[in-house]
Amino acid sequence: MKNKSLVSINDYTREEQLKILDLAAGFEKQPTQSILEGFVIATLFFEPSTRTRLSFESAASRLGAKVIGFSDASSSSVQKGESLRDTIRTVSNYSDIIVMRHPKEGSARFASEVASVPVINAGDGANQHPTQTMLDMYSIRKTQGTLDDLNIAFVGDLKYGRTVHSLVMALCNYNTTFHLVSPEALKLPSSVKIHIKDNKHKYFQYTELAEVIHKVDILYMTRIQKERFSDPMDYEKVKNSCILKNQMLTDAKPNLKIMHPLPRVNEINVDVDDNPKAYYFQQALNGVYVRQALLASILGVK
Ligand code: CP
Repeated sequence: MKNKSLVSINDYTREEQLKILDLAAGFEKQPTQSILEGFVIATLFFEPSTRTRLSFESAASRLGAKVIGFSDASSSSVQKGESLRDTIRTVSNYSDIIVMRHPKEGSARFASEVASVPVINAGDGANQHPTQTMLDMYSIRKTQGTLDDLNIAFVGDLKYGRTVHSLVMALCNYNTTFHLVSPEALKLPSSVKIHIKDNKHKYFQYTELAEVIHKVDILYMTRIQKERFSDPMDYEKVKNSCILKNQMLTDAKPNLKIMHPLPRVNEINVDVDDNPKAYYFQQALNGVYVRQALLASILGVK
């Protein structure tokens, strides 16, 4: 994967994705190593983030790399009208990898085409979030012992949830049965459903969360993506859909794990947090090891 940008999850083959997961397991055992000394990682966040930016920065710092960048485009020369092309070309001169989050779909692909260093997509609009996908796969494999033959429920905003789009695509490389739970207005886009069908997997659609809890190995909860709605009234209509409460988990399978890319708003009641099935905070921690694996691979150190 040396020098290979990661824009879509499909940029990396199944074998390359598995190699990242295996490397991440090594970093989980030994997260502090000086293997990236002398490298500079740029984190350019044109949209808010807590986990993705800070786990990339933590990953880089624990491996000895220096981090530059911004967490708010209003503190950059974008505020003066600078184009994305010029920003990326300039930051390419200052860094060895660019990690970028941007509200526009396709912006990460564009950045990878104009950059002279590899670009990692940290989320482009409602499109994809491939590094989240790799930490999600790592978390699924770690908790279930396999990525194959699993029943996985995706719950909430399947229309705008970029983490859902890229994880569904990645899981099409495995024998997955998909259970898709959302309000009618927030169903999984047809383009992603076609990908499931083309890969000869089954999917089932529901509007009620209670219908799937007892059937699945992973419950992948998501936030309704308020920032992607053009009409605030449309958000108001769906904002309380699909809320998970602890009492709903009584008939769940013993191996069930509840995942969520976070941040959460109200879709997982806090009374679930102490249930041993809740895995979302460990999932966020796994992001450090997976991002260490990605940085080390792309920089050619592992
Ligand atoms: N999961 C995720 O992308 O979280 P942040 O928006 O906090 O980075």
